[in-house]
Amino acid sequence: METKRIAVIGAGVCGLVSIKSCLEEGLHPVCYEQNNDIGGVWVYSEALRPNQGSAVYECLVTNSSKEMTCFSDFPMPRKTPPYVPHATYLQYLRDYAQHFTLYPYINFNTTVVSVSKAEDYATTGRWEVRTRNNDTGQENVVIFDGVMVCSGMFKDATIPDYPGLDEFEGITMHSNAFRSGSKFTDKNVLVVGGAHSAGDISVDSSRFASQVYLSMRNGTWVIPRLGFGGIPSDMMGNTRFVSKLPAAIREFMVTNLASSKVNHDKAGLQSKAKSFFKGCQMVNDEIGSRIYCGKIQAKPAITRFTKSGAEFEDGSRVEDIDVVIFATGYHLGYKFIDNSIIADSHKDLELYEYVFPARLKHCTLAVVGCVAILGANVPVYELQARWAARVFSGKAKLPGPTQRVLEVRRRQKQTLEDYGRYKTYVPPVPLQEYYAKQIGAQPRILSLLLSDPKLAFKCLFGPAYPTTYRLHGPGSWHGAKKSIEEAWDNVISSIRTRSVAKEKHSNSIILKLFIVFTLVLVIVMHWI
Ligand SMILES: Cc1cc2nc3c(=O)[nH]c(=O)nc-3n(C[C@H](O)[C@H](O)[C@H](O)COP(=O)(O)OP(=O)(O)OC[C@H]3O[C@@H](n4cnc5c(N)ncnc54)[C@H](O)[C@@H]3O)c2cc1C
Ligand SMILES: *[C@@H]1O[C@H](CO)[C@@H](O)[C@H](O)[C@H]1NC(C)=O
Ligand SMILES: *[C@@H]1O[C@H](CO)[C@@H](O)[C@H](O)[C@H]1NC(C)=O
Repeated sequence: METKRIAVIGAGVCGLVSIKSCLEEGLHPVCYEQNNDIGGVWVYSEALRPNQGSAVYECLVTNSSKEMTCFSDFPMPRKTPPYVPHATYLQYLRDYAQHFTLYPYINFNTTVVSVSKAEDYATTGRWEVRTRNNDTGQENVVIFDGVMVCSGMFKDATIPDYPGLDEFEGITMHSNAFRSGSKFTDKNVLVVGGAHSAGDISVDSSRFASQVYLSMRNGTWVIPRLGFGGIPSDMMGNTRFVSKLPAAIREFMVTNLASSKVNHDKAGLQSKAKSFFKGCQMVNDEIGSRIYCGKIQAKPAITRFTKSGAEFEDGSRVEDIDVVIFATGYHLGYKFIDNSIIADSHKDLELYEYVFPARLKHCTLAVVGCVAILGANVPVYELQARWAARVFSGKAKLPGPTQRVLEVRRRQKQTLEDYGRYKTYVPPVPLQEYYAKQIGAQPRILSLLLSDPKLAFKCLFGPAYPTTYRLHGPGSWHGAKKSIEEAWDNVISSIRTRSVAKEKHSNSIILKLFIVFTLVLVIVMHWI
C-alpha cells in the first residue's frame, strides 16, 4: 500500500508534534507554515507581524511547569528553570524539531489558502489543499489523504464593543500588541480582562506606570505558580488521584491554595462565579502584592469610555487614562476551510472529542490544539496528534457520524448546564487519559503495581507527567521510566545554586497536613 500523505497546517507546538506523530505511524507529513520560523505563538518579535498569531510579550514565562509542559519523549534540559521563559521555550521547540528531524517536512513561507473535499472525497476521503508561496505568490494545489489543522487558537483578537470607545483619545490596543510595560513609564494604564494575560500585563506595567487599573467583569481566581511547599501548583493538582476526586474537593483544594497567597476579597479580585471552575482564572504570583502596594487597582466592568477615561459599573470614573489594553482573548478563525466543517464559534464547533469534525463521512481531517486547558496545554495537544495519526493510519477506529454528533451534543449540553457557556477550560488529566486509552498508551498501573510498585505509586499519586504516556503501548520510549524517576530533580536542579545543609524550612509539614486533611475530607464525603 502506498504511504498516506498528510497535510499539516502550521508549525507551532501542534504542527511539530503532528509531524512527529505522522512519522511514528508511518505516514508521510507535509507541513505548511506561513511564517519563516517554527514555534507559532512562542516566536517573540518586537514588531507586530501581519497574519501572525499573538506573539508573546517580554516578561512571559510559562504558566505551567517545566515537566508538565514538555513533550512526552523529550525532557527539558536540567538547566531550564521550573517555569520557562518564552525564549528558552522556543529554543526547546527548535531542539525538538532538530532532534526528531522535523525541519525537512516543513515548507516555510507557505500559507494554506483553502482546504476542501477532493473530487473523489465520497469514496476516498481525500482533501484538496491550496497553498500560496509568500515569496513568489505562486499558488499550488495538492491532494492529500489526510489533514491535520494546527493553525492555533490565538489569532483573531476579540475587543468587546463599548459605548464611547471611538471617542476615547488615548491609545488602545489588544494584548497581542503588548510587548513590555516599560513603554508606559509614568502613564495611567487600564487593563481589561480577568485571565492570564490581563494579570501579566497589569503586573508588568505596574512597575513603570504611574497607575494601573484592572477592570474585570466577573473577577477572577489567582492561582500561584508555587504551590504548598514550593511545589509547582500544576504538579500538585494534575495528578491521576486528584483528578478522580469529586469536583467539590478539587475546588476546595485549589481555592484554598489560591486564597493562601492572595486575599481575593480584600484585593477586590473576588470572582462572581458560583464555583472556581465556572469563573475566570489567572496564573500569577505578584498581582496580590502589586495591589497591596497601590500600584494596581481592581475595578469592575466598564460601562462606557469618555474622551480621556472610563466609567465603571459601580458609578466610579477614572480620568486621565493614557492607554487601554484589552486582554479580552481571541475568537476562533479557521478561514481556509468551510464553516460547515470547522465552525468559527465555540457554540457551533462540532468536534468529536475536541478533534474530529463530527459530521464528516470520513475521519481524514483532525483539528489539533482547539481546546482550552486548565493546566499545561502541550501534553494534551500531543496526545491529540498521536490519536489523529493512529486514526489516519487505520489503527484506531471512531464511531460513525451519527454517534459522533450525538456525543458532541451531549457534551455541549453538559457544558452549557455546568458553565453557562460553550467555551470552557477543560481539566487536562481526564482528557489525556481518554486520548491515551484510544491510542493504547495509558500507563498500566495495575500491572505496574506488581512489577514496579514505586513507579505505579508515582503514576497514581504523582503528577500525570506527559512521560507517563510513553511507558506502554505504541510509541513507548525506553527513557520514560528514568525520566519519571528523575522528574522532580530535573524540575528543581537548576535553582539549586547554593547548597543548603538540610531543608530546614521545607513546608512539607503543611503539605502533609494538607494531604491528610484532603484524605479525611474524601472519606467524610463518601460517607455522607
Ligand atoms: C501568551 C500565551 C502564553 C501561553 N502560555 C502557555 C503555557 O505556559 N503553557 C502551555 O501549555 N500553553 C501555553 N499557551 C498555549 C499555547 O497556545 C500552546 O502551548 C501552543 O503553543 C499552541 O500551539 P499551536 O500550534 O496550537 O498554535 P500556534 O502557536 O498559534 O501555531 C500555529 C501556527 O500555524 C501557522 N498558521 C496559521 N494559519 C496558517 C495557514 N493558513 N497556513 C500556514 N500556516 C498557518 C501560524 O503561523 C503558526 O506558526 C500560551 C499561549 C499564549 C498565547
Ligand atoms: C519569506 O518571505 C519573506 C518576505 O515575505 C522574506 O523576507 C524571507 O526571506 C522569506 N524566507 C524564506 C526562508 O524564504
Ligand atoms: C496559560 O496561558 C494560556 C494562554 O493564555 C492559557 O490557554 C492556559 O489556560 C493558561 N494555563 C493556566 C494553567 O492557566
